[in-house]
Amino acid sequence: HRHLTGIYGLKPWEISFLLDEAEQWVALNRGRTKHDDRLAGLTQINAFFENSTRTLLSFEIAGKRLGADVVNMAVAQSSVKKGETLIDTAVTLNAMRADVIVIRHEASGAVQLIADKVDCPVLNAGDGRHEHPTQALLDALTIRRRKGRIEGLTVAICGDVLHSRVARSNIIALTALGATVRVVGPPTLIPAAIERMGVERFTDFDAGLEGADVVMMLRLQRERMAGGFVPSPREYHALYGLTPERLARAAPDALVMHPGPMNRGVEIASSVADDVERSAITEQVEMGVAVRMACLDVLTRGRRGVEGWA
Ligand code: CP
Repeated sequence: HRHLTGIYGLKPWEISFLLDEAEQWVALNRGRTKHDDRLAGLTQINAFFENSTRTLLSFEIAGKRLGADVVNMAVAQSSVKKGETLIDTAVTLNAMRADVIVIRHEASGAVQLIADKVDCPVLNAGDGRHEHPTQALLDALTIRRRKGRIEGLTVAICGDVLHSRVARSNIIALTALGATVRVVGPPTLIPAAIERMGVERFTDFDAGLEGADVVMMLRLQRERMAGGFVPSPREYHALYGLTPERLARAAPDALVMHPGPMNRGVEIASSVADDVERSAITEQVEMGVAVRMACLDVLTRGRRGVEGWA
């Protein structure tokens, strides 16, 4: 079986294949009967060691719409709180014969550690600053549906790039699919040598937005800044907050995106976030369910005796 621990390592056609697969689930989810029971009899365990609204709920909904028996591990009430190690926890889930495990963890690399210990596909629902592959897939699907293509577009990924697994996965996915990617933000919140990922660096927000087709804002991740410099929300908004005036520098039909949860009035002004013409933020959430259905389906094909993508 294969895992989905990151976008890194996926071939461009594999990314496009997952997006193509997700289209059927967008259609199903917009209908009245949101069910296709191809995962009936399989057990899906969601183990989220870090908080989540969108990713946890959409993985749960995705699994249920595909007919799987979905179990959410309540980490706060689990033996993790008694000091059980991550590996012992993984071995325990494996012994219960899970067919697919979805993990979110605050440590980069934790999902790969678990993937190496279990006998079923593991999906990364976000690990530390490393990757959030299903977020990048839902973002790519949102862009492709709104713009009709990804190749040749200029995408500005703006804000706290340093702490963002969303940025990392999106950079890998969007460059693989032929977009020109800019990272835009304060010098302290952009990783050194980010150019090695095939992107352009901008520290001037206005310059980075100039002519962009997609403006992807990132959450200022204050919880990951312990011990380091923490910008004040007011100053951050003044320099790097997306306002209608700033957005006017981007292409006239530029799409505004944010993975959520948003800090309104910090990285994005409410008037921009709620602009139904320009903002794709709720559409991103909708695409999240479809993309996660596609990933659960494709990754469990081997277990179901259906030809997979490996
Ligand atoms: N975008 C995202 O991962 O949101 P949650 O943290 O709410 O899952």
